[in-house]
Amino acid sequence: MRSPISNGSRTTSLPASTRKGKKRATIRPVCLGSLLVVMYIVFLSLILSLFDEEDHAEPLLDPKPSSADSLSHEDEGKGEKRQQSVDGRSSSRSGADDNVIRSFCGKCIWKDSPYSCDTRVKWEMENRGVSELTAKRNNLSHCLQPHEAHVADFCGDCAWKGNMPFTCDERVQWEIAHRNSIELDAKKRNLKYCKKPPYILSNLCGGCAKSKELNMTSKKYREGTPCWEIMTRRMNKGAVATTEDAGRLVANEFPACKLCHPDNCWREYFDEAQLSDRINEGDARDNLGYHTKYWRFDQSAPEFRNPTTLVLPSIPDELRLPTHRVKDIEAYLTEIYHDFESRNDTDHVPMLIEYNPGLAQIPPQMKAKLPSNAAYLVALRVTPANNCFRRDQMQSLDQKVWDHTMMSATNLLGLALLDEKYEILPGYDIIVDIASQLELQRDGYGTTYFGEPTFMDYRLFTLNGEVYLHANADITVVTKLDIMSKEHFDKKTANNGKYCKKENGTWWRGDKNGDESPCTIDVVHGEDNLVVRMKHNFNAIWSGGDRGKNFALFSVPNATHPDELESTYAEVDINPIHRVQQLNLDAIDKLPRYIVKKRIRRNYAVDVIMMRQALAYGNVTDSDEAPPRSFYTIDEHWFPETGAFREAGHGGACCVSFTKEEVLAQGEHIYLTPEIWGEENDYLLMGVAHTSVTWKHWYSDPSREAEKAMLPHTHYISFFYAFEPRPPFNIRARSGYFCLGFAAEDGTEKGPFNQHSTLTFNRKLSQHNETFSCPQIHFVSSFVEKVGDPSTTVIGYGINDCTPRIIEVTKKEVARMIFSDPWEMKIESGNRAKD
Ligand SMILES: *[C@@H]1O[C@H](CO)[C@@H](O)[C@H](O)[C@H]1NC(C)=O
Ligand SMILES: *[C@@H]1O[C@H](CO)[C@@H](O)[C@H](O)[C@H]1NC(C)=O
Ligand SMILES: *[C@@H]1O[C@H](CO)[C@@H](O)[C@H](O)[C@H]1NC(C)=O
Ligand SMILES: *[C@@H]1O[C@H](CO)[C@@H](O)[C@H](O)[C@H]1NC(C)=O
Ligand SMILES: *[C@@H]1O[C@H](CO)[C@@H](O)[C@H](O)[C@H]1NC(C)=O
Ligand SMILES: *[C@@H]1O[C@H](CO)[C@@H](O)[C@H](O)[C@H]1NC(C)=O
Ligand SMILES: *[C@@H]1O[C@H](CO)[C@@H](O)[C@H](O)[C@H]1NC(C)=O
Repeated sequence: MRSPISNGSRTTSLPASTRKGKKRATIRPVCLGSLLVVMYIVFLSLILSLFDEEDHAEPLLDPKPSSADSLSHEDEGKGEKRQQSVDGRSSSRSGADDNVIRSFCGKCIWKDSPYSCDTRVKWEMENRGVSELTAKRNNLSHCLQPHEAHVADFCGDCAWKGNMPFTCDERVQWEIAHRNSIELDAKKRNLKYCKKPPYILSNLCGGCAKSKELNMTSKKYREGTPCWEIMTRRMNKGAVATTEDAGRLVANEFPACKLCHPDNCWREYFDEAQLSDRINEGDARDNLGYHTKYWRFDQSAPEFRNPTTLVLPSIPDELRLPTHRVKDIEAYLTEIYHDFESRNDTDHVPMLIEYNPGLAQIPPQMKAKLPSNAAYLVALRVTPANNCFRRDQMQSLDQKVWDHTMMSATNLLGLALLDEKYEILPGYDIIVDIASQLELQRDGYGTTYFGEPTFMDYRLFTLNGEVYLHANADITVVTKLDIMSKEHFDKKTANNGKYCKKENGTWWRGDKNGDESPCTIDVVHGEDNLVVRMKHNFNAIWSGGDRGKNFALFSVPNATHPDELESTYAEVDINPIHRVQQLNLDAIDKLPRYIVKKRIRRNYAVDVIMMRQALAYGNVTDSDEAPPRSFYTIDEHWFPETGAFREAGHGGACCVSFTKEEVLAQGEHIYLTPEIWGEENDYLLMGVAHTSVTWKHWYSDPSREAEKAMLPHTHYISFFYAFEPRPPFNIRARSGYFCLGFAAEDGTEKGPFNQHSTLTFNRKLSQHNETFSCPQIHFVSSFVEKVGDPSTTVIGYGINDCTPRIIEVTKKEVARMIFSDPWEMKIESGNRAKD
């Protein structure tokens, strides 16, 4: 699978001649840009009311009970409009003004311009003679504080309070006219009556559209025709007028399309026992029928605790993006690029950003040589490459500067010790540059940029009491680390003083038994309290070469020899077929050049790393096909015929084991039959995978901007999956899609403030002209059990290739999502007003 960076910068894999054109296509989706701006304005305005009215009861905002509140005590319906005007009154001007000042973000970028909101206000004052307040008020929508920006939940079209005969937009307009309110305030005040529902309801069942009638094949549909296609044809022929009728028609005609029957398809979500159980509860719901829920990705996300942002102290201040240069980021990137280009004493553009945290529990043996409060080891990608900024903020960058921002050859490894609260142990964080030290860095490094990255994301896996460092080179490569405090490092002992380097011009060393002695990695930045050694060189996981990245590693006890080391595996594919390769990560086999016929992304045929192939046992095992998702998301409703996301998930992070008891702890919120769990499984392994909207050729066609806005590419969502801990590692269940959010700015975020967090709001997940309260890219890079608390998991993820974040999610919560109760997550009574 691709890393977000590689997806975000398709350009670099293209021949130079086509780069320019594509770059324009990728970075200048004008519609997407303006779309983001519009969303920014509209949605951001809204959520304040939640905090203001409910949390701090801000007195200036609305000193009297809001008209909304008083209305709620009045008769509903017809009297409504009258009540509003009776209740109409001026809210305190100074309250609104205060609010403008509080919500105004001077450092933010004004619209898509290269200058800040403060600069703009100054300009307005000088050139238009308006007061500061007026300028701020009138431009507020372009300059909202980021914490007001991540609420995408105001629903203008919704009926006010759910059942009033006017819309939320109408209500807001009315308040602007009658209460001397600004739009932002009015929306904030009304957000609680105008929240987008967490899901939409449809009487087409999840899975209907893509079900296939296998008997009906054609050139286009060799493997069967999707039911949605058949429905569309029937409608085009005039046989039926509505999708509902089309659904009935095809469901009756083709058993394979029975999920399309709007009246009873929901029964397919249950087995008979479960169905009669609940139906017999005696309420009349059955008669009303049920609609399927299609969740918004931000609303289907797991509940979490202890969100923590990381900052890697070992990045020197002079290599951090200065906050005051955010407003002229293009100029800044150009400057530092030229600085880099004109010198030959630096290895990279002088800017480093840390993200994509890979956590691992520290195994006991390693813990003995580390400070006693060290609980986790974290690996971070440290690089000038980032997606902190919107593309439209960077459209006049020179091609080479752009390339370097998107796909820097420099991908250093940050390593740090974390305590149980995910705080970095002071002095125990370092940055190393393995690629340079081992002379693996590709052409161009240290001079001008033409080289490709050697490594990109790093992850850590604890297997058999050892910590493995996993990196995406052209393909996944793995080494074993030994990490200790300096005081435990005795240079005099044999080999301890050896530095990792190329020897005698060759990198091919060791034999099948991995007979290599550990070598030490130089610390490039940070204090040298930590000593990091590679126990052997990188070994490559070779899976045939078509797709070679992000293979998560896991181990399971040896079924026949329980006293032996656990057997180690790499996940080559997640779904629909879970493909897994057993390996000895520490032993090698030489991969002959002739085997490597096809590399998909890079131009390098076989390099020294790839030739050290980790010893594979047998062939990749192929599982049965994965079951359907445990709930459905709004993309399926919006794009029934094609779906929005690539079906096959890519490995993000794996694996945490869940016993049946841990899953059952979720009680009524799960639906778990023996068939789903699998009778013989004491536990299942769970992971998080991601998928994205992939780049398609038409994205470079300027005439298709509107389509791009509807389905922007390189937008990511994740899902959980659970599989059996034995070959062929069948996937027993998987969740619906969800996204993970931004670092909170309301004081609940733990860890030091990362100044890039603000930038992450620049790029939000969006689809179908709607924006979600999530970053465009959330890249889950770790999923481990919490130290000292086996009932909880820890998820580490990168936000927009810009910041790292860690959250805790209980196993109960993961279980609720994977084994979700259809009554909760899939259907709702047809009588919506009841709620
Ligand atoms: C910003 O404020 C000025 C002064 O009030 C106003 O004329 C201008 O239209 C505003 N700009 C936008 C984009 O709303
Ligand atoms: C589809 O093919 C199968 C096997 O050939 C057959 O049993 C079935 O009746 C066919 N279904 C339809 C709808 O034609
Ligand atoms: C770069 O290195 C060369 C040779 O080592 C040296 O002659 C030259 O002055 C250096 N250039 C700069 C800008 O440092
Ligand atoms: C490198 O070459 C020297 C001299 O030929 C030899 O003594 C040494 O053992 C070699 N080292 C390795 C690691 O092969
Ligand atoms: C289990 O251990 C035995 C003995 O070492 C070994 O032969 C066998 O391949 C192992 N099985 C697996 C699945 O690793
Ligand atoms: C592995 O796959 C190859 C090619 O399909 C096959 O010839 C071979 O028998 C398989 N090996 C095992 C152990 O299944
Ligand atoms: C989506 O946004 C684009 C660009 O702003 C616009 O052209 C298009 O009409 C919108 N589509 C819908 C369905 O709202």
